[in-house]
Amino acid sequence: MKVIIKENYDELSKETAKIIKEAILTKPNLVLGLATGSTPIGMYQELIQMYEKGTLDFSKITTFNLDEYFDISTDHPQSYHYYMRKNLFDETNINPKNIYIPDGTAKNVKAFCRDYERAIQETGGIDLQILGIGSDGHIGFNEPGTSLNSRTHLTKLAESTIEDNSRFFEKKEDVPKSAITMGVQTIFEAKKIILLASGEKKAEAIAKTLEGPITPQITASVLQQHPNVIFILDKKAASKLKKYG
Ligand code: GLP
Repeated sequence: MKVIIKENYDELSKETAKIIKEAILTKPNLVLGLATGSTPIGMYQELIQMYEKGTLDFSKITTFNLDEYFDISTDHPQSYHYYMRKNLFDETNINPKNIYIPDGTAKNVKAFCRDYERAIQETGGIDLQILGIGSDGHIGFNEPGTSLNSRTHLTKLAESTIEDNSRFFEKKEDVPKSAITMGVQTIFEAKKIILLASGEKKAEAIAKTLEGPITPQITASVLQQHPNVIFILDKKAASKLKKYG
């Protein structure tokens, strides 16, 4: 477990984009796992700048997003499909054929989840997975209590997540109540993982994730056992760590 503590959000975003760039330069057909939420936005902006400067080529990579709200159309401004188009895909040369995001309108959810897992396997697995973290310690949408052996599935959102994410919607009632997410085990199988956290609001979840017991109550805590994980935190998110702070 490697922990990098950066002065602020800007530095965190730059550091993460640099690691992604190196990974793509080393393996142009990288399989990259992507996250949404406010935390990775700065990192996406850095990546777009690298593309615009001509120092990074995304044309051969494949991407798998962690999750998507259910039941929401891909054109909904709060859908993660829309978010990804706006914050990365439309601004770079990622091949649309190589983009995978859970389908928040899937009619046969079980079959969809099975196919999503199979698609990941068929690429040879995720080389580098980017994660954020929920204030309740979730990764993807794997809420407290989710089995650490879980695979891609439909899940109910925790009340605290609905509350956290309501800032993106007009009102709290508009936040979807469920989502399709990669499971904890799906995420864990990525060859390399980077978890990002910024701000005071994540400090508690980060302390529990890194220094607490491994428990389904904090699904991110499973990462303690991952052979190749980097936590990139800003000072505020790291402020409750005892060993690393
Ligand atoms: C959602 C996403 C997570 C993300 C979390 C934190 O719940 N499903 O993948 O990590 O939000 O979001 P933010 O970065 O906005 O705090």
